[in-house]
Formats: sequence, C-alpha cells, structure tokens
Amino acid sequence: MIEISNVSKTYPENNLKAVDALNLTVQPGKIFGFLGPNGAGKSTTIKMLTGILAPDEGRILMNGIDISRNPVEAKRIIGYVPDEAVFYEKMSGADFLAFIADIYEMDRDSRRYAFDIAAELSLTDKLAEPVSSYSHGMKQKLSITAALMHRPGIFILDEPMSGLDPQSAFVLKKLMRRLCDEGKTVFFSTHVMEVAEKICDEVAIISRGQLVASGNLENLRKIDRQKTTAGHSDTGASGRTPSLEEIFLELTDENDHTA
Ligand SMILES: Nc1ncnc2c1ncn2[C@@H]1O[C@H](COP(=O)(O)OP(=O)(O)O)[C@@H](O)[C@H]1O
Ligand SMILES: [Mg+2]
Repeated sequence: MIEISNVSKTYPENNLKAVDALNLTVQPGKIFGFLGPNGAGKSTTIKMLTGILAPDEGRILMNGIDISRNPVEAKRIIGYVPDEAVFYEKMSGADFLAFIADIYEMDRDSRRYAFDIAAELSLTDKLAEPVSSYSHGMKQKLSITAALMHRPGIFILDEPMSGLDPQSAFVLKKLMRRLCDEGKTVFFSTHVMEVAEKICDEVAIISRGQLVASGNLENLRKIDRQKTTAGHSDTGASGRTPSLEEIFLELTDENDHTA
C-alpha cells in the first residue's frame, strides 16, 4: 500500500510548485494508473515515492514504512522503473542484472527469477549483448526485469508503455496483473488515456500538481456526469458512456479555467 499525505514539492530552480498538497492512497491488488498531461507532476510525485526527491511537506508511507525516515528499508520493498533508465552501456544485459543482484545482495533464487522475467519479456536472446545495442524498448524491458528481481511488494513504473511494441505492452500488462493478484501494489503513470482505460482498475488524475479526480473508472464517469449536467459538455448529454479520454480532457480543462 502507498499512502501519500499532504505532499508538496517546489523546485527551487524555478520556484515552481510541481506537486501541491497531494493526498492519495494506493491499495494493493489493483492496477493503479496515475494520469495527467505532460508537466502535471507525475514524475515528480514518483521520484518522491521512490526516495529520489524529498518532499517539502507531507508524509509518504510505503507498506507503512516512511520513505523519508527509513529510506533503506523502504527501498528494499520498492521496484522502480524510471521514465528514462540509465545503464552502463558497455555492460551486457546479463552483467547489468548480476550487478543489480550484487548491490541488493540477492540470492541465487532472485537471479534465476530475473531470467524468468527476461524470458517472459522475450529478452533472453539479447542478454549476452552490450546494452549499447539495445533499442529503447529493450532497455525498458531490462529495466523492468532489474526492478522486479528482488520481488518488491510495491512496483512503480513511470510511463512504462512508451517505447514498447504492442506485444511487449501486452506482456507487461499481464505481468502487472499477476503481481496484483499476488497482493502486491502496482502504480504506474501515463499520459496516454487509451493505455489507462485498457489496464487500470483505479486511476487518479493530476493537473498542475493537484489531484483533480480519483477512484475507479465508474466513479469518475459519475463525477463527469455531475459536471456535465451543469451544461459544460456534450459527452454526457449524448447518453453514451464517455471514454476516459473525454473525462480526462474535461477534468483537466476545468482545472485550467479555475487555476
Ligand atoms: N528538475 C526540475 N527543475 C525544475 N522544474 C522541474 C524539474 N523537473 C520537473 N520540473 C517541472 O515540474 C513540473 C512537473 O514535471 P513532471 O513531474 O516531470 O511532470 P510529468 O511527469 O507529469 O510530465 C513541470 O512544469 C516541469 O517543467
Ligand atoms: Mg513524467
């Protein structure tokens, strides 16, 4: 479970409040999508969840462990796939996985598990080659494998579908579903609404650093219908069920007008 309480972050470089008093609880067992347009504050939030950035205010608990107070303990239970993973390009994929296994002091079981995941992602044949020869999608798969090999209870991915071909995206979706079914917490960001609509059980929508809606898709449609009865949009008036994209545009647009 991820518990985010009143978390804010301002970048000192430009004095921009990238995340503004965010409150969010992510339950295990459900695929949770964190949605918002570019620049909304998704990556900033994720960097705070994973202990890369310290919040200015608020508290973040990862399975009850405070990421600011017990960062080492918290990081042990987190698997993180960044939006742009950085590798030592001269290493082979297998060397990189061994390197990560050494850092985490993993046993042979974890190392074997890594090769199972790599196989599932159709990466096995590439593992002997240097990372410099990998496509963006292959690097993404290696990053996913490395993030999962220590069997984290909480799996966090920043825009994981970008660069993946449809087949790999399907495999990742299956993998995320299986982790959920094992009772783990799965949280990922995306600005692509079709992806969210296909994969997520629960979503939260962020715009300009602020949460504008959260819940399961059915709840969000209810919020949208309430707004549309005020006569702002024709998505509800037509009588058909609005897509997540329509809801998203409506909510982030409303937010822009009031900001
Ligand atoms: N290192 C940084 N320094 C200053 N501003 C930043 C930095 N990183 C992100 N921002 C700004 O913070 C806001 C939120 O960015 P980000 O969290 O990356 O959004 P998202 O991931 O939703 O696209 C944007 O306006 C972005 O320009
Ligand atoms: Mg981002």
